[in-house]
Amino acid sequence: MRRLLLLAMATGLTACATQPKQETAPVDAAPLSLIPMPAQVQRAPGHYRLDAMTTINVAPGDTQAKHVAAQLQGWIRQARGITPAIVEGKGKSGISLATVSSIKGREAYTLDVGANGVRIAANAETGLFYGAVTYWQLLTDPAAQNGVPAVHIVDAPRFEWRGLMLDSSRHFQSVSDIEHLLDQMAMHKLNTFHWHLTDDQGWRLQIEKYPKLTETGACRKAVGPDIALTGGADTPYCGFYTKDEAKQIVAYAAERHITVVPEIEMPGHAQAAVASYPKFGAGSKKLAVSSDWGVNTALYNVDDGTFTFLQDVLDEVMDIFPSTYIHVGGDEAAKDEWERSKTVQAKMKSLGITDEEKMQGWFIARIGTYLDKHGRRLIGWDEILDGDVPASATVMSWRGTEGAIKAANAGHDVVMAPSPTLYLDRLQSTLPDEPPGRPSGQSLRTIYDFDPVPKEIAGANAHHVLGAQVTVFSEYIPTWSRTQHVIFPRIAALAERTWSPKADWNDFVARLPAQMSRYRAAGIVPADGAFAVAIATEEAPGHKAKVTLSNQTGYGTVRYTTDGSAPTAQSTAYTGPFDVDLPSTVRANAFEGGFGLAGPRDREIDAKSLLRRTSDELDMCGDKLVLRLESPNAVDGVRPVYKVDIMDTCWIWKGAKLDGRYGLSVTVDRLPYNYALWKDVKGIVSRKSRSAAGELEVHQDTCDGPKLATIPLAKAKDGRATLDGILPKREGTHDLCFVITGKPGPKMWVLGDVQLR
Ligand code: ACM
Repeated sequence: MRRLLLLAMATGLTACATQPKQETAPVDAAPLSLIPMPAQVQRAPGHYRLDAMTTINVAPGDTQAKHVAAQLQGWIRQARGITPAIVEGKGKSGISLATVSSIKGREAYTLDVGANGVRIAANAETGLFYGAVTYWQLLTDPAAQNGVPAVHIVDAPRFEWRGLMLDSSRHFQSVSDIEHLLDQMAMHKLNTFHWHLTDDQGWRLQIEKYPKLTETGACRKAVGPDIALTGGADTPYCGFYTKDEAKQIVAYAAERHITVVPEIEMPGHAQAAVASYPKFGAGSKKLAVSSDWGVNTALYNVDDGTFTFLQDVLDEVMDIFPSTYIHVGGDEAAKDEWERSKTVQAKMKSLGITDEEKMQGWFIARIGTYLDKHGRRLIGWDEILDGDVPASATVMSWRGTEGAIKAANAGHDVVMAPSPTLYLDRLQSTLPDEPPGRPSGQSLRTIYDFDPVPKEIAGANAHHVLGAQVTVFSEYIPTWSRTQHVIFPRIAALAERTWSPKADWNDFVARLPAQMSRYRAAGIVPADGAFAVAIATEEAPGHKAKVTLSNQTGYGTVRYTTDGSAPTAQSTAYTGPFDVDLPSTVRANAFEGGFGLAGPRDREIDAKSLLRRTSDELDMCGDKLVLRLESPNAVDGVRPVYKVDIMDTCWIWKGAKLDGRYGLSVTVDRLPYNYALWKDVKGIVSRKSRSAAGELEVHQDTCDGPKLATIPLAKAKDGRATLDGILPKREGTHDLCFVITGKPGPKMWVLGDVQLR
């Protein structure tokens, strides 16, 4: 439909309602590319087109409307290069913003576009702001070049908590990057920025009373990819937000109707704090700020002095952040230090508390009481349920949705943030150029399919679900460009599911290309993995390869070339697997309405490439803790990415054709092993090695099967290298198992790819 409209526009056939006789024109058939889709949309014939005479009109003295008018004016200037004047009183032609008491709900609004103008009405500034956002989306739809189609919209959100969590501890984002993110959250009508400010790997907020929290706690040893960011292994990775910067972010967010909910983790994820002030820790060892990802075991102790410290910190936090909710973490607090600590055990005895999980409940309840006294409400990860938390505590469910189900049915308010579904550090595609992260994948569709109210939360308790949020834990997301990649466009799916009363995946995908163009116009580079074409190959008879093309959403028409030229909207449409001669280069993209939906992808196919597998294309031997990790060192300016189970360095090539093969080459690399695995350490698979550097062994059929080759890793000299091995003569098809001997730590060998010869 979009294609027809563009064609009509190109040939000058489009009706434009600014000319009176076209009032009878049919309703514009092109879908409105609004995300999130408003609650009620009624289309009408005609269009409204901005021009240099357009004004934004507000009632005299309506300061809220005037404020939103100034914001809308800025957006229109950016989108159209026109700066409509703001008029107090009735303008001649244009856009009116009106505060009216008849509309119910602070976030609700109505939007009417007709031939003579636009009217946005709400009973509060937030509703006017969201109405203005909807109008801006209509204005920036590439299909609306000739005017915004007439429409009557009545809208209000389904949920009050529509959020995104950003981890600034594992990796740190600049104030301007966060502001850029807040701009985008607002344009998706998200209203809660949950800011993960403290963790084992960094304390990122200035606290005046405790300067060491940032003098010591904001720096850690640079490891792996961080070394490229700091400039050297001896230069620590540091960063924190001053109080003024944090206040600036709060104010910037508030301008965009976003509440910043700060998170100060306790009693676990406390290593940066304990490294800064050891007297508040429960352990006996002196600790540095951690540079290990995972579950570090440093806990706060339970002395009164530690509560004074935490309350002092919260006083300064409450001074910066006016949010009702203060997030106190509570997750993954390994209790080893409390089990071993005489003072913690004595305190438990004096309180009559018999187990450490209940002690955590006592700890959190004490903090909750303190927050209550200051007119704030405690929110924590679902582990806070393990003790007796006050009924006023709100539970953020991350260990799936079970925590939320239990909490809501026990009368707590809950926010849905289930792992893995809403965790944006999870990969979103299986494309070979997907940046590092955590499998398994959480595609755009997986997020879209998530309904914040699970059926297990009975009707009467459904009101306890405040909403949902995506989380950006940043261990594997060291830069702003990667942050953009994980957030966009998946944030659009979350926005729709937390705002709109209905979900319609096919309709959503059709609205997404316009949203992608809005991202690019705003300087955001979104992930295009929902549309990009994956190119799979296999050997075919007659010195050919069979090529299979697909795209994740199935949206658009896949088109390809085999002559090395860029695919266009006129290229051959893909209808099913096809054969190519060797060598060939296949280039492909998905198209809709004459436009490419993604960056074109290509694959060079020759006899050699058919006998090569990357770690992504190999199976893992198990599923203990699989990651996609990047090399600390770039090759031709790009850091290679490897799929590896960090608890079992073992890969399988299913069904390798071994007839006529007598050799293989393997590319290996050496990565830092900076993981805190706590009790999972016991599950690490360790294989007997013959030498200090270890070997890569190739086994036939199973990982305990006959050993076909042993490749000593010493030759790789502690870095990326391609090593050769000899294979004994074999007939037919066999699975090949590749294992690395020895035990990982402090570095680990990984397999990059395998080439049979
Ligand atoms: C979490 O992912 N530990 C909340």
